[in-house]
Amino acid sequence: MSLLVTFGVNGQIASVEVSPWKRLLDVLREDLHLTGTKEGCGEGECGACTVLLDGVPVNSCLVAAGQCDGRAVTTVEGLARGSAAEPLLHAVQRELVARGVFRLRMKPRMSSHSPEPVHPISTQSTSS
Ligand code: FES
Repeated sequence: MSLLVTFGVNGQIASVEVSPWKRLLDVLREDLHLTGTKEGCGEGECGACTVLLDGVPVNSCLVAAGQCDGRAVTTVEGLARGSAAEPLLHAVQRELVARGVFRLRMKPRMSSHSPEPVHPISTQSTSS
């Protein structure tokens, strides 16, 4: 089953006929060739796929295309200097975008070693 989904992308109107369950990330990259949005974990943890949906940051790997109908999406390409979305960004974010850096959250690295055993505190009395 496919659905015609029409939404704003970086200030322009886009219409794509896709499965309503296709991820926004895939629609952007495969159907609209906006490859600035990257896939990292694919499960909503890293933030590499972040776009603005009606001005709110979302993980595009967790958004279905059908949820975007009639809404406005801004990708990293749309955050270039001088875009309408630029005022939404903090000055530091604007600099990162200008230099081609995107947001990336990392999970803390888990050690492959078991933690050192904890030695119980001695309970022996020191008084005589
Ligand atoms: S790809 Fe990691 S949050 Fe979407």
